[in-house]
Amino acid sequence: MSGDLSQEKVVITAGATREEIDPVRFISNYSSGKMGFALAEIACVRGANVVLIAGATTAEPPAGVRIVRAFSAEAMHRRALEEIAAATIFIAAAAVADYRPVRRANDKIKKSGGNLILELEPTPDILADVSRRRHAQLIVAGFAAETTNVLAHARTKLAGKNLDLIVANNVSEKDSGFGAETSRVTILRRDKENQPLELPLLAKTKVASRILDEILVLRRELFPLDSPSV
Ligand code: PMT
Repeated sequence: MSGDLSQEKVVITAGATREEIDPVRFISNYSSGKMGFALAEIACVRGANVVLIAGATTAEPPAGVRIVRAFSAEAMHRRALEEIAAATIFIAAAAVADYRPVRRANDKIKKSGGNLILELEPTPDILADVSRRRHAQLIVAGFAAETTNVLAHARTKLAGKNLDLIVANNVSEKDSGFGAETSRVTILRRDKENQPLELPLLAKTKVASRILDEILVLRRELFPLDSPSV
């Protein structure tokens, strides 16, 4: 396959996780999968070998991309750690629930007169664990979905999860974030934290292309003579 990503195996997470409360209810969010699907589509067009690990999605997945479904944070975590062994780029675009019920009821929870208290526990942090367990040539990129202090929170995630790059999006902005066709993002590199790349409101496919451009620049700077050998 030709294209500037033809040497790369790219693993992308997309969509929303669902954390089950009982057989008919779950905790989730509004991610449609569009951002992760756009990344997969553009990476594939540019010659990459792409694996898409998708949770629940409402958008149409791109044709010709290997898609692995993983609906809970735990399942997505397991699949991501399996797939990164042979990958050169990992991009976490999924909206993973931060918390899940401590216990999933086997039967539908019955309505009672009073309040119902759900005890929640943190889900595994897929992106942080991928970064912790990565091999030397894996480039790891994440997103930060924020509604306030977008860049400050994104910088905290960039450092805290030990990422090479983070894509900050203000998900409370009109036409940007969850479910939208477009997004306005700022790309931050770990080694150039004080030089944020602010992009205008763009179609998610265009955003995907700019993210992949930045990752490729990073790859060439980090490994100037090598082509990835995993
Ligand atoms: O799917 P769309 O409708 O197109 O919407 C796109 C999007 C808004 C979902 C996408 O642009 C986006 O911002 N994705 C990340 C959403 C998110 O969960 O962000 P966060 O700031 O809570 O998490 C930070 C990063 O850690 C993310 O890369 C996330 O995938 C990852 N994470 C978070 C928690 C967890 N348990 N495991 C993770 O891997």
